[in-house]
Amino acid sequence: MLRKEQNDLLTQTGPGTSMGNLFRCYWIPALLAEELPENDCPPVRVKLFSERLLAFRDTEGRYGLIDEFCAHRGVSLWFGRNENSGIRCPYHGWKYDVTGQCTEVPSEPQESGYCTKIKLKSYPLVKVGDVLWTYMGPPEKQPPHPQWEFALVPAEQTFTSKRLQECNWLQAMEGGIDSSHVSFLHSGSLNTDPLFKGSKGNQYNLKDMKPVFEVVEQPGGLYIGARRNAEDGHYYWRITPWVMPCFTMVPPRGDHPVHGHFWIPIDDENCWAWSFDYHPVRALTDEERQAMIDGKGIHVRYVPGTFRPLANKDNDYLIDREAQRAGITYSGVEGIAMQDASLQESMGPIVDRTKENLVSTDNGIIMARHRLMKAARALAEKGVMPPGVDPVHQQVRSAAVVLPPDQAFKDAAREDLRVRPGIPQTSV
Ligand code: FES
Ligand SMILES: [Fe+2]
Repeated sequence: MLRKEQNDLLTQTGPGTSMGNLFRCYWIPALLAEELPENDCPPVRVKLFSERLLAFRDTEGRYGLIDEFCAHRGVSLWFGRNENSGIRCPYHGWKYDVTGQCTEVPSEPQESGYCTKIKLKSYPLVKVGDVLWTYMGPPEKQPPHPQWEFALVPAEQTFTSKRLQECNWLQAMEGGIDSSHVSFLHSGSLNTDPLFKGSKGNQYNLKDMKPVFEVVEQPGGLYIGARRNAEDGHYYWRITPWVMPCFTMVPPRGDHPVHGHFWIPIDDENCWAWSFDYHPVRALTDEERQAMIDGKGIHVRYVPGTFRPLANKDNDYLIDREAQRAGITYSGVEGIAMQDASLQESMGPIVDRTKENLVSTDNGIIMARHRLMKAARALAEKGVMPPGVDPVHQQVRSAAVVLPPDQAFKDAAREDLRVRPGIPQTSV
């Protein structure tokens, strides 16, 4: 349970808020690179942390993320003409480059230098992997570019998607570190989803509905271990790394690609659920890639032309009561991603955490909230850089292992939880 002011602190990310300032310490995914496929292509509206921005790619291939609105009289530059190294407002022709600098005000004499005094807010936008990342904090504090393994492996080994989720970022993220729901909500999918089925670990998952959680601190955040019974008194451990503020990786199953998420606030009542899948040492097969495109695993199918899932709150997520009754899907909603999103959105745009009743399986959530609040406070009061900014903190992996009962996962799996180039994920 949280007090109201704690819930407000964690869920509000607009300009000037504590959590907003915390998020603004990191490089965060802003767009898929494919959204700006070529030079001078149409610009894209981007809303992040309640700021309305515009992304575009200029004639030289430079990426820009600038204020959406023209400095003259506030027209949305989404209508703009992306031409000759800048975006031109279609109302009176003011033009801006990728840094937001105004380069032309056609009505004013060139020699007046008027345009040099006009500059829109802008943020850097860089391509690493399949993602365009932005950093929205103070320029002098800009950290090194992101170092997540999924974004650094060769293109044929990785796939990234994003979907709109119509609720606050925190309740979405909390679903990502709550591995106890898998044995219930996703039980139907473990044996049928092409990106999940067939692993030995699934059997442990489905047999033991009372996992014991052990959460340990790590430099960038937490390792959340969920322990289930295996053979001969051994334990099957699923270990989820959480790196501040909102990165998680799902523990692997067999040789399937490993997947994970970021949950990035759009505003306080919407977020982007970013979902990636990669294999550390081999190319994705055609079947795997096609399954991801088709919305299997942690990906979804979309309302055409949007990133809104096809199953959404306006159609009750296409719930199928027959499938629910027959146990084909546990909740009646199809697909792992929408099973999660439907329930998280059902809590309302911002869940009231003063009313919850947490149990021992919620330990990961409790500790993550504390780390976030502590880091936000340290940043606000002493300017301390939060965990997860340092690229070393980003070099983590999830793991699934079977261990004898007397071994602590944090020691026995220490190496498995680090990125080891050329070595596959540790999986059962
Ligand atoms: S409003 Fe953009 S040029 Fe006038
Ligand atoms: Fe889930």
